[in-house]
Amino acid sequence: MFDFRSDTVTQPTEAMREAMAVAAVGDDVYGDDPTVNELQDYAAGLLGMEAAIYMCSGTMGNLIAIMSHCSRGDGVLMGVNSHTWRNEVGNVASVAGVMPYPLDDAAGCPTIESIRKFYQPSGNVHRPITTLMTLENTHNGAGGVPTGAAPFAAAADEARSLGMKVHVDGARIFDAVARLGVDVKDYSSKADSVQFCLSKGLGAPMGSILCGERDFIDKARKYRKALGGGQRQVGIAAAAGLIALREMRGRLSEDHENAALLAELLKGCGIDVEDVPNRTNMVFFNLTDGQCDAQALIKRCKARGLLIGSPGGRRVRMVTHLGIGADDVRSAAEIIKKAAPL
Ligand SMILES: Cc1ncc(COP(=O)(O)O)c(C=O)c1O
Repeated sequence: MFDFRSDTVTQPTEAMREAMAVAAVGDDVYGDDPTVNELQDYAAGLLGMEAAIYMCSGTMGNLIAIMSHCSRGDGVLMGVNSHTWRNEVGNVASVAGVMPYPLDDAAGCPTIESIRKFYQPSGNVHRPITTLMTLENTHNGAGGVPTGAAPFAAAADEARSLGMKVHVDGARIFDAVARLGVDVKDYSSKADSVQFCLSKGLGAPMGSILCGERDFIDKARKYRKALGGGQRQVGIAAAAGLIALREMRGRLSEDHENAALLAELLKGCGIDVEDVPNRTNMVFFNLTDGQCDAQALIKRCKARGLLIGSPGGRRVRMVTHLGIGADDVRSAAEIIKKAAPL
C-alpha cells in the first residue's frame, strides 16, 4: 500500500525504536522523567520560549493552550478553515467553554480586516471578551500553505495590539521553517504559545509539545492532569520525540519536493490540482465533471494499493511524508490517472 492519507501514518525509524528501548524513564506526573524533561528543555530552547510541556497529541496541546489563556465565557478568534475550528470536535466550545469567532483564513493566514472585525472590545457588556487569537502554520485546510514571517508577524502584532494573546497551532511549523528558510523563532517570538507535533512530518509515533511562559506552562500542566493527559513513564515515547526534533527537521524538504512532483504529475494527467504558494507536503485537488466522486476515487485507489483522503465534497488530499519516495509518487499518479475518469 502507498499511504498518502496523512503524514501521521509514518512508522518510527530504527534509531527511534532503539532510543525507545533504552530510554531512561521516571514518573512524568511527578516531573521525574529525565527523557521527557530533556525533550521539553530542548524544545523550549529551540523556540526561544521559557518552558515546554509534552502533550499526548496536537489536539490536546491546542485545547489546553486555549483553556490556559482563556476563562470560560471568553472569546477566541480562529480561522474558519483551521484545524481547531473544524477538526477538534468542537472542544473549544464543549470542553473549554470558549466562544470561537470566525476569521477569514482562506489563504492560510487570517486577514487583518477579519481580526479587526471580530475582536470584541472588553467594555461591551453584551459580548465575550476576546482574549486569544489562534494562528495555524502551515495551514492544512488552505493546502498546507506556510505563512511567511512578515504576514505572520503582522497578524500576531495586530491581535496583540488589541490586547489578545496569540497561540500558534504549529502542528507542522517545521515544514514552514524548512520551506521558507526562516528560523522557528521568527514565529515563536511573535506568539504567547506554540504547539507543534512530533508525530507528523517529524516521524515520531506520538506526542506534541506546547511551549510558552513558565506560568502558562504550569497552568497547562494542571489542565493536562485534569483531562487525563498526565502520563507516567512516557520517556519511552519522548525518546522518539527527541530524535524527531533533533534529526528529522532537516529532511522535511524531501517531502516538499515529492509533493511538488506529485502536483506536476497529477496536472499532467488532467487533474485539477489546487495551486498554492510555497507548497509544503500536501496536494489537494478537485474532481471535475468527467471524473468520479471523491468516495468512489478513494475506493478505486484502495483496490489498486493507494490510500488517499478527502476533507469533503469533491476535494481530495494527498500528503507526502517519511514513508513516501519519488517512485511511490510516480506510482500514485499513475493509479489516480487510471482511477479518476467516470
Ligand atoms: C494543523 C493541525 N493541528 C492540529 C492537529 C491535531 O493533531 P493530533 O492528531 O495529534 O491531535 C492536526 C492533525 O492532523 C493538524 O493537522
